[in-house]
Amino acid sequence: MIIQPRTRGFICLTAHPDGALQSVKNQIEYVKSKGELENGPKKVLVIGASTGFGLSSRIEAAFGSGAATIGVFFEKASSEGKMGTAGWYNSAAFEKEAAAAGLYAKSINGDAFSDEVKQQTIDLIKKDLGQIDLVVYSLASPRRTHPKTGVAYASVLKPIGQAFTNKTVDFHTGAVTDISIQPVDKDEDIQNTIAVMGGEDWKFWMEDLKNAGVLADGVKTVAYSYIGPELTFPIYRNGTIGQAKNDLEASVTTIDNLLADIHGKSYVSVNKALVTQSSSAIPVVPLYISLLYKVMKAKGTHEGTIEQMERLFSERLYTADGKVPLDEAGRIRIDDWEMADDVQAEVAKLWDSVTSENLSEISDIEGYRKEFFNLFGFEMDGIDYEKDTNEDVKIPSIAE
Ligand code: NAI
Repeated sequence: MIIQPRTRGFICLTAHPDGALQSVKNQIEYVKSKGELENGPKKVLVIGASTGFGLSSRIEAAFGSGAATIGVFFEKASSEGKMGTAGWYNSAAFEKEAAAAGLYAKSINGDAFSDEVKQQTIDLIKKDLGQIDLVVYSLASPRRTHPKTGVAYASVLKPIGQAFTNKTVDFHTGAVTDISIQPVDKDEDIQNTIAVMGGEDWKFWMEDLKNAGVLADGVKTVAYSYIGPELTFPIYRNGTIGQAKNDLEASVTTIDNLLADIHGKSYVSVNKALVTQSSSAIPVVPLYISLLYKVMKAKGTHEGTIEQMERLFSERLYTADGKVPLDEAGRIRIDDWEMADDVQAEVAKLWDSVTSENLSEISDIEGYRKEFFNLFGFEMDGIDYEKDTNEDVKIPSIAE
């Protein structure tokens, strides 16, 4: 089938398997160029492993320290005449490359919030790996069905207290407009967002894994958070999603207590703002990212998900002396280059002056747009998009 991009708003409805393979290969090459991580993890579970930070974490673990990986994700499988989602093709590509490199890699496609998928994962770890030494928690989802009560929660992306008006961009057309987002009108929406994106499910995972005896002594677990600049505070850190991130960050104490007797440790890593399927759904943020990219690329400090994950593993989680550098609130910071004073001062200045007219000149909107399409395997260098391609790509461990 000939596969071309088809978009609806910030969603791309199609995905290209050859482009996805190329994108995974590029990430692997980057990791290999950095050399082997000596004391890195060896048996790793990545929850949310098919796109964004989770996929890059899996690639870094496998190709940076030779780890066996199990990836959990929720994607639409491809079949003859039916395209799969980008995360499906990414995972097929990852397993293919891992097998070629002699690395163990298996995947589970299902709802990570459910007890069933947790049990399936535990059974697979017991059967194949015995115990794991790293759990990466990288889910981003708009909804969650609670496994104990069956209640279905939907998250919202809204400010709290008062309406928020600021600039936003339609990255397809380049139109910069003002957007006003009304605040949540009921506390329930805040609680629902916490139920979806907060720390409860991470705790459930760690409890179940611990009770099943599949966590190695000294196990580490890491989940991802975001802070960002003041200009996005009303919609992000002080908004509904920020409340969920506070909850996620607070669960470190509970998980640390849970893991104390096996000398385990949990971390939250605050990552950089990047183009992913999740971040493109948040108003205002894509315009901020376009300006941020422009500034960071000019300074030579720009990173994508794979560069971020390489730095997280080699300079934070698995340092030579075993120490994990943390901020005053106990978090890992790999958003340090984004939050650098000079970067933020320049972005703030550009923010004030950005309009539809000067957008392509003062921002990296073209880089944003290209990266967005890259997420779905499009606009990758070296891929012929006019060529007939096989849409029916199997993930070896799932096809078994
Ligand atoms: P993403 O949308 O690229 O990836 C989400 C992953 O979760 C995918 O593998 C997807 O299959 C999986 N998933 C979603 N619902 C699932 C379910 N019910 N069961 C199993 N798997 C499911 O997201 P991204 O951006 O990589 O986000 C990962 C984490 O990083 C999130 O916690 C996000 O808040 C955080 N983060 C993101 C930043 C950004 O700028 N994109 C910045 C800092 C943190």
